[in-house]
Amino acid sequence: MCGIVGYIGTKAASGILLEGLRKLEYRGYDSAGIATILDDQIHCVRAKGKLNNLQEKLDGEDNPAPLGIGHTRWATHGKPEEYNAHPHRDTEGRIAVVQNGIIENYRELREQLKAKGCEFRSQTDTETIPHLISQKLIAIKANPPNNKTAEASLLLEAVRQAVNELQGAFAIAVISADFPDELIVARQQAPLVIGFGQGEYYCASDTPAIVAYTRAVLPLENGEIARMTRMGVEVYNFEGIRQRKTPRTLNWNPVMVEKQGFRHYMLKEIYEQPGVVRTCLETYLVPDWTPELGISPIRLGIPDEFYADINQIQIVSCGTSWHASLVGKYLLEQLAQLPTAVQYASEFRYSPPPMIPNNLLIGVTQSGETADTLAALEMDKKRRKDETGPLRSRLLGITNRAESTLGELVDRVIDTQAGIEIGVAATKTFVAQLMAFYFLSLDLSYRRKTMTIEAIEKMIDGLRQLPAQVESVLESQERYIEELAHDFVDTQDFIFLGRGINFPIALEGALKLKEISYIHAEGYPAGEMKHGPIALLDSKVPVVTIAMPGPVFEKVLSNAQEARARDARLIGITPMDEVEAAETFDTLIPVPHVDEILSPIVTVIPMQLLSYHIAARRGLDVDQPRNLAKSVTVE
Ligand code: G6P
Repeated sequence: MCGIVGYIGTKAASGILLEGLRKLEYRGYDSAGIATILDDQIHCVRAKGKLNNLQEKLDGEDNPAPLGIGHTRWATHGKPEEYNAHPHRDTEGRIAVVQNGIIENYRELREQLKAKGCEFRSQTDTETIPHLISQKLIAIKANPPNNKTAEASLLLEAVRQAVNELQGAFAIAVISADFPDELIVARQQAPLVIGFGQGEYYCASDTPAIVAYTRAVLPLENGEIARMTRMGVEVYNFEGIRQRKTPRTLNWNPVMVEKQGFRHYMLKEIYEQPGVVRTCLETYLVPDWTPELGISPIRLGIPDEFYADINQIQIVSCGTSWHASLVGKYLLEQLAQLPTAVQYASEFRYSPPPMIPNNLLIGVTQSGETADTLAALEMDKKRRKDETGPLRSRLLGITNRAESTLGELVDRVIDTQAGIEIGVAATKTFVAQLMAFYFLSLDLSYRRKTMTIEAIEKMIDGLRQLPAQVESVLESQERYIEELAHDFVDTQDFIFLGRGINFPIALEGALKLKEISYIHAEGYPAGEMKHGPIALLDSKVPVVTIAMPGPVFEKVLSNAQEARARDARLIGITPMDEVEAAETFDTLIPVPHVDEILSPIVTVIPMQLLSYHIAARRGLDVDQPRNLAKSVTVE
């Protein structure tokens, strides 16, 4: 977890680091800190809590140091206190390190290093790293090894030797007061990207931190270490062999990571959804497709041989991506007639289903960096690695960051094209994941001939209507939902109900509310409410029900009535008109008439707005809810 940044160049590092950290705060905000080299000493400033606390400490400091590293923390080992904040230093305070990840063998290392006289000042796993590097440096200086990395720099060699002793998933950045012209970074299973400027170089856990300065980036690969100086960047593997690398150009601009007049990133991202759906349609629908063309109407770039023989799908994911996966299961089963199982990635890894032949494993992760999801996919890839026949590994990723670790791990990627999402609570990336599942299901249905051409055409027509329909919900309902939110500022429990393809949307509605407003909420399949949750209902528990016309419409309405009979305030998300709805619901949030199968893209919008406005009314930090982080790179 956490976010790291680094800068080496000619400008004052501290402002650049702080700005970079601001863009990474979504990765954790328990504490923050930066270290620079000033007057031949490591100058380290750290603060508990959000970045503003660090900024206050830095205000008024005139620090021209042109080299530094920074960190924003999501606590894993050790409380969120200043003494546990990164950067961490060795006993003499000559080396400073920031880390994102977990060093699994830190206990053994700590004991060994303590025995050598190292003084530990924090409870973190990270603190072992500067001590270890310092010990390596002492040994190297006494007896310099004859290899390329030692030739380049003794600090590089010391860090290289140290990372070879670390177990776990990590990305680190290291500076030393004794080597004031270099910044060393290394990556093992946690993201790290290097940015190239003119005589200045950047590193960060994620590109938003550096996109204001450069668009020429080089993501490090696992097992790589780099030495950054003002002259350039040298990349080696952990064995010390030089790697030839070329940076690539990002097609982003810095404005994409600004709020653009919205009060919160989350609201801005909610409003970006019509555009996201439009982009997905433009990217993945074959223009001017007609059945006579004899090709799939969907262009995912996945060749027939990749999935021609599959007869079952498994999906692994976490959080909101898990909800998108449940919608995916519905589509893959109902349209493509493929039995599909969805598992939490954290469960799949340790209790995997037996290896099934002709299986496709899909990992869904907006960040492409969620440790549990990556670990689940890696586990399956590993256990199938010697298979060439039906048991062979076949991995598909659905992600918003095709350049992520997931992108490297899987055979094929569907890029959800939503643009960077900063709000911790996922909104537009969820909708984009749903779009990916519509396209995948349609592509499979076409190739497997499980849908008629007419049905496919009808569905594509429906998909094309979605941007305007989402826009109309935003335009007609936001103000109303903002007012409605007023009623729920002090509410303690919420129930969300949906059936069929809208059951995962009920789960997502409940998750959004929990995440950002800290109100207890449960999502349930409407038909299941009578088997337990109904006991929770009284006049203080609002029940939000998604009721879209379709085979289970009447049943959902009956389920809603069961709640109303227990005095619950019933809020309906439905295309019913006011007169009809008045008989069933106390409060109506109208949505357009949309085919039930396409409706999740529309029904999720009021859910997002409701949780957003309740949280905003409660005065909470919508974009950075407590205890959460956007990408969870620890298991
Ligand atoms: C974290 C975030 C969630 C997100 C989940 C999975 O818990 O707070 O919003 O849904 O990770 O993230 P992923 O990047 O794998 O979709």
